[in-house]
Amino acid sequence: MHNVLIVGASRGIGLGLTRACLERGDKVYAVARNPNGEALAELHKQHPQRLVLIAGDLTATDVAGHIEAALQGEQLDILLFNAGIMGPQHQDVAQASADEVATLFLTNAIAPMRLARQLAKQVRSGGVIAFMSSQMGSVALARSAEMPLYGASKAALNSLLQSWDRSTERPQACLLALHPGWVRTEMGGDQATLDVATSVAGLLATVEAHLDSTGCHFLDYQQQTLAW
Ligand SMILES: NC(=O)c1ccc[n+]([C@@H]2O[C@H](COP(=O)([O-])OP(=O)(O)OC[C@H]3O[C@@H](n4cnc5c(N)ncnc54)[C@H](OP(=O)(O)O)[C@@H]3O)[C@@H](O)[C@H]2O)c1
Repeated sequence: MHNVLIVGASRGIGLGLTRACLERGDKVYAVARNPNGEALAELHKQHPQRLVLIAGDLTATDVAGHIEAALQGEQLDILLFNAGIMGPQHQDVAQASADEVATLFLTNAIAPMRLARQLAKQVRSGGVIAFMSSQMGSVALARSAEMPLYGASKAALNSLLQSWDRSTERPQACLLALHPGWVRTEMGGDQATLDVATSVAGLLATVEAHLDSTGCHFLDYQQQTLAW
């Protein structure tokens, strides 16, 4: 049984992670902008003792305080940043407004890293801090031609993660950037190759395999290493 905190738990992969962790007996702290939605409320009904719902927007500057209050000093084994957005439909640098760029990079790169640094002291030594990245964030693989703004935001996330790994403030935890595969969610769309349950099972096995280890890795849901 692990203590797991998932940021962005309301739907898609985040909801799937929350469900799977509860099913295997974990205590889950689920952060969502609207924690009163139908799916999370149903899970809470089934697991009232092991699911703690926390209202929070990843990008809000005071969200760390709310989460810390809800944790009540409890140490985490796994801290998972799942929340993310695709950015504007046009994905065009020439059309992108300052607001679109700010929201995209704040949500996908700056805010998760800021919150991770604030919450790192709540993660036990040997725990895992994982970020939902994407293969589109790989500069080396260059697979984001159709979604360049989104890809750039995930590349920024990966870059910030590597900088954290090399800094003196690095926590005593394993740091992971994860690619969940192409998953049928609101973001992934109907044509995606994977269902949520398959992706989530692989992601959790990948995280599990890195408990009580060190380093900073970019891995997909099948534990394959991706080039940064
Ligand atoms: N699906 C794929 O094929 C795929 C592939 C590669 C990477 N990813 C990454 O995997 C992660 C999950 O994707 P998904 O497919 O499950 O996407 P999704 O279905 O669009 O769900 C996105 C989740 O992020 C939450 N979120 C967004 N902004 C937030 C904020 N400011 N504060 C709190 N929560 C916020 C949403 O909450 P609300 O309900 O409040 O909007 C929702 O729970 C993302 O980081 C995505 O970039 C997905």
